Amino acid sequence: MTATTRTRVAIIGAGPAGLLLSHLLGQAGIESIVIDQRTREEIEHTIRAGILEHGTAEVLAATGASDRVKTVGHRHDGIELRFAGEGHRIDFAALTGRGVWLYPQHEVLIDLIAVRLAAGQDLRFGVTAVAVEGADTDRPVVHATTADGEPLVIEADFVVGADGSRSVARTAVTGSTTGGYFREYPFAWFGILCEAPPSAPELIYSNSPNGFALISQRSATVQRMYFQCDPEIDPESLSEREIWDDLRSRVDGHELLEGPIFQRDVLRFRSFVAHELRRGRVALVGDAAHTVPPTGAKGMNLAVADVLLLDRALRALLLDGDERPLDRYAETALRRIWKAQHFSWWMTSMLHVAPDASDFDRLRQLGELRSVVESEAGRRYLAEAYTGWPFETEL
Ligand code: DHB
Repeated sequence: MTATTRTRVAIIGAGPAGLLLSHLLGQAGIESIVIDQRTREEIEHTIRAGILEHGTAEVLAATGASDRVKTVGHRHDGIELRFAGEGHRIDFAALTGRGVWLYPQHEVLIDLIAVRLAAGQDLRFGVTAVAVEGADTDRPVVHATTADGEPLVIEADFVVGADGSRSVARTAVTGSTTGGYFREYPFAWFGILCEAPPSAPELIYSNSPNGFALISQRSATVQRMYFQCDPEIDPESLSEREIWDDLRSRVDGHELLEGPIFQRDVLRFRSFVAHELRRGRVALVGDAAHTVPPTGAKGMNLAVADVLLLDRALRALLLDGDERPLDRYAETALRRIWKAQHFSWWMTSMLHVAPDASDFDRLRQLGELRSVVESEAGRRYLAEAYTGWPFETEL
């Protein structure tokens, strides 16, 4: 027996994009169902990036999505760009009047899930979307399988694919699982979590002849660090000593405080933008619509920007019967998406060392880094992009 359920907005994916959209729609009285193939436990414990743009933190706090972002999170007013053995501070507060918040994505998810459940929201874990149909009708449908292996059909007024880079909803929008603009990179990040105090007051993005390293943080006792690696490396193949030696060789003289490493992972790099973000009554948000390489921490922030636009468009459609904002969703969202694509690509290419880099490439890169840190305009561009451009609110 196939169970059929009805809702106004069916949201595939209980990541930051899907949960925030459901929360915002709920505040406008628009009911939704959020499904995710993962368990709540998995969603709340998967380690992802840790930096929220100024505007992202504002939205989460102001809409009641997260009470903890500004109490548990830490405001950072700058970063250090390190190269040729020297650190250069990019002072976000002085350059833009804004900062960013160090508040890990899984904490945002813990907050959003709690808020959605407290509101009595229909949030279903362990439910796998199989296909989305009827994008060109006013009754789009999600076909799914429950945790018990039973088929489930969700009929909706609108379907949102917030289902990440392996999106099922994307096929209903672009006609294929892959259809998009795409770029790969010949390196990845080796990420660790360790028990140690912070090695610096702010994050350090370091370019060295041995490759890139990022010294990030999580709390007073836990740190997150990354270094450039071969995408094919087995994360278990390095000893703790080798990991620390690698990290040290890439921060060029900056002292690192070591401690036991309790998690390691390899993050692949891709740039991707789907050819279409919306077809009829199905739209894509977040990683389903685009992926950025992690340098500069734009992924979740970009998802929030998409959601703010789609929330407006869906309110107009479902409360006022006005389709015009929805017709402008993709074009408006794409302006920010391509700016963030550029910024993420630029930070990546400026800071990493490609395996086939020539001496010319290496010296040119140092010239590029000097052009940024020695110019107020250069530092300000980086600061504006990193802390986040103002959100578009008009559609
Ligand atoms: C983190 C990740 C990033 O990609 C970044 O640019 C900064 C911080 C992090 O996980 O802490």
